[in-house]
Amino acid sequence: MTKRAVAAIILAAGQGTRMKSSLPKVMHKIAGRPMIAHLLEQVEALHPEKIAVVVGPGMDSLEGAVAPWPTVLQKDRLGTGHAALQAEALIGAFDGVALILFGDTPLIAKETLEKMILRFDASDHPALVVLGFYPKDPGAYGRLAMRDERVEAIIEYNDATPEQKKIPLCNSGVMAVDGRILFPLLQELKNDNAKGEYYLTDLVAAVVAKGLCAAMVEGDEEELLGVNSRQDQATAEWVAQNRLRQKAMENGATLIDPSSVVFSWDTKLGRDVTVGPNVVFGAGVSIEDDVAINAFCHLEGAHVASGAVIGPFARLRPGAEIARAAHIGNFVEVKKATIAEGAKVNHLTYIGDAFIGAGANIGAGTITCNYDGFEKTRTHVGAGAFIGSNSSLVAPVSIGAGAIIGAGSVIDRDVAADSLAVERSSHREISGWAARFREKKSAPKD
Ligand code: UD1
Ligand code: CA
Repeated sequence: MTKRAVAAIILAAGQGTRMKSSLPKVMHKIAGRPMIAHLLEQVEALHPEKIAVVVGPGMDSLEGAVAPWPTVLQKDRLGTGHAALQAEALIGAFDGVALILFGDTPLIAKETLEKMILRFDASDHPALVVLGFYPKDPGAYGRLAMRDERVEAIIEYNDATPEQKKIPLCNSGVMAVDGRILFPLLQELKNDNAKGEYYLTDLVAAVVAKGLCAAMVEGDEEELLGVNSRQDQATAEWVAQNRLRQKAMENGATLIDPSSVVFSWDTKLGRDVTVGPNVVFGAGVSIEDDVAINAFCHLEGAHVASGAVIGPFARLRPGAEIARAAHIGNFVEVKKATIAEGAKVNHLTYIGDAFIGAGANIGAGTITCNYDGFEKTRTHVGAGAFIGSNSSLVAPVSIGAGAIIGAGSVIDRDVAADSLAVERSSHREISGWAARFREKKSAPKD
């Protein structure tokens, strides 16, 4: 990696009208976090000295999302060149490479940015490096006019001649500029073009006019996808999900049907984890080695220790802590609860605000009644306890280690260790009653 210092300017002042949203465009999520966060992660990996994010009016939510990096306001949207210029106070004359990126191009990888920075070391000593690409549909992208290996100019689509529109090599928008000349050049930009905007892309012609070299590094279309609409967002999500699926498999997880598994950007899977079809990972899930997540599970904010078996059809909500070799079965919901080592919660159960001790067995249909409409209270089940099916544990309540609760009980008092507690009306049987009832009901009426 080059020793050049790096600064980055991220343009995000566009509201993104085509998203039809009250949220700034770059706050829309890909794989569970804002687009801008994806971009920042890659830029931060370059260890930049400075990052400045250019925002538009009323984008307060963005400030929090990019902190601790500062934002600068572009009051009027006068074009990408004008937007980049707003960062002058934050970046200043910079002895290194200034990267300019678009907040709505969230899938770019740090390796590509590194390639651009390394390009400055080549013998032709470029003062500017453009990231170009060959999209399948060049559409309205700016076109790169090349001479030999150098970029002569970027021509915006609206300003291009029919001949220039045939150029297949396009501008991704990402640019790297010698930090010592960036702001003086931006100051000189004019807006005498089709849109009446200050184009960042005009920097290329400005550099060439000064007898300096503008070079090009080629990037991959998938990485350079710009998000302008909900359709683009869905495409970006698809790309991001595929990357996460690949990463999970590379790290030793089996995905039985990769295309049906939805990850969050921060999902952590250990080795020899098997994930069944149609599993959804929300934010903050970490799964240790040798875990099976069977089909149709939904997990969020949960930690699953090695050897555990989850699902099918289980829901782990934030604060679910599933210890080694525990079993969570079908139609079981766990929230803010620890299921200790080897405990089994196998069918049709809600465990919320609870601790279930090691080796305990929670029968089908057990419910922790943790909420009285005002407050949440806790349930404690000791190690090795056995909760009979269809029991309600009315919190706050504690079941001692090794205790047995009879099926169908409503338990609202603490139960001592190794006791039996049964709470249900006693069994009554009237011999022959059913037969007499049927006889009476089926007798002819006169
Ligand atoms: C831009 C490029 C074009 C390139 C394309 C790639 C220019 C003049 N054109 O066009 O060559 O092919 O991206 O996607 O640069 N922004 C601001 N303030 C402004 C204007 C824009 O912050 O005043 C931000 C937007 O929020 C966005 C980015 O800059 O993140 C790009 O702006 P956009 O208007 O989408 O540029 P394009 O027309 O797509
Ligand atoms: Ca755009």
